Amino acid sequence: MNLTMDQHDLIYFDNAATTPVLSEVIQEMIPYLGNNYGNPSSQHSFGFNTSRAIENARRHVAHLIGSSPNEITFTSGGTEANNLAIKGTVSRLGINNENKSTVLISSSIEHDSVLQPFNSLKAQGFNVKFVEVNKEGMVKLESLLEFLKKEKIMLVSIMLANNEVGTIQPIRELAKITHEISNALFHCDAVQALGKIPINVKHLDVDLLSLSSHKIYGPKGVGALYARDRDQLSPLIDGGGQEKSLRSGTENVYGIVGFGEACRIASVNLHENWKYVKELRDYFIDRVLSTIPRCYVNGSMNQRLPNNAHFSFPGVKGEDIIIKLNEFGIAASTGAACSSSKAKPSHVLKAMGLSLLEIEGSLRFTLGLQNTRSEVDRVILALGETIRELRRHSGFLNN
Ligand SMILES: Cc1ncc(COP(=O)(O)O)c(C=O)c1O
Repeated sequence: MNLTMDQHDLIYFDNAATTPVLSEVIQEMIPYLGNNYGNPSSQHSFGFNTSRAIENARRHVAHLIGSSPNEITFTSGGTEANNLAIKGTVSRLGINNENKSTVLISSSIEHDSVLQPFNSLKAQGFNVKFVEVNKEGMVKLESLLEFLKKEKIMLVSIMLANNEVGTIQPIRELAKITHEISNALFHCDAVQALGKIPINVKHLDVDLLSLSSHKIYGPKGVGALYARDRDQLSPLIDGGGQEKSLRSGTENVYGIVGFGEACRIASVNLHENWKYVKELRDYFIDRVLSTIPRCYVNGSMNQRLPNNAHFSFPGVKGEDIIIKLNEFGIAASTGAACSSSKAKPSHVLKAMGLSLLEIEGSLRFTLGLQNTRSEVDRVILALGETIRELRRHSGFLNN
């Protein structure tokens, strides 16, 4: 597999923020930045050419999640897919007083692109509830059950894998009880899980599922929404009626082509590829825990993405560690990089009940297919030195 990173000395352990674009993906995209420029809606060979490319990409995306191609709508990314799923469902059912009394449910650890649409619906008068999670970052089933049994529910939205701590929720079970108890639709943000763990929408029994290209070695600015029944959604964008009227606007052809190719590649050797990353990640976590005193892994170790290592190093600030690591040429993150830089303590770690000291000293490393064992060894050395130095400055270990 060829990656396009040419900064050989830099180590990129922030693959949950975004991934490098595979050179195979770029090769597929290039013709659509050049000679294949037709508008896919045009009724001539230029248009037929690009509309064929879009349908080909749709088949690859559908194949990766076990859906049929006509259940896939291309969007500008995971954020738009989440907004379309949530606001599109609500506006289809009608924003009237009767519907406002029905309940919308999500979890307290969702990405901002799910939390904010729910918060804006709440501001419009909707009854929105957030299911709690336990200390391991797993959704509390009893908390969901309590809401489902008491209220009339319109929509439940719970993510498959968390972007900060990598926890994987039992979506099949959550969707099953939702459908058994209520008529609600079940939406799942699968942006972080796509291409890392097997996903089958029929098996998961979800009604809506959001995807993004730039987390799976594809280009940025493109994603998709799976909808079991697209008639249950209203579009957010009206216009020329592209994407069967669910998402108007001339299609981002080269982006969609790149996303399709990234999905095609992700479906080949998915298990072997991520077994490799999981072994690297496990080695990394073992070495960090055995060489750095007083540090902890956050989030369930069993139900976790294969590439996520999330630690708390009490006595130091995550941001300070990142600055120091960057001087060593190492890229890590304090959490949700994709929601623009903000200094607020993580809502995910707060929901998990971590103390402020643990939250402040938290750090996320997310490995990728391009990372190697020697990079892991370099990161362990640099991290150990960084933590020792920062703790010496703060006098932490003397306390
Ligand atoms: C869980 C999750 N959902 C949604 C998004 C938003 O996706 P996009 O960047 O394609 O808008 C992200 C981005 O980081 C994410 O991690």
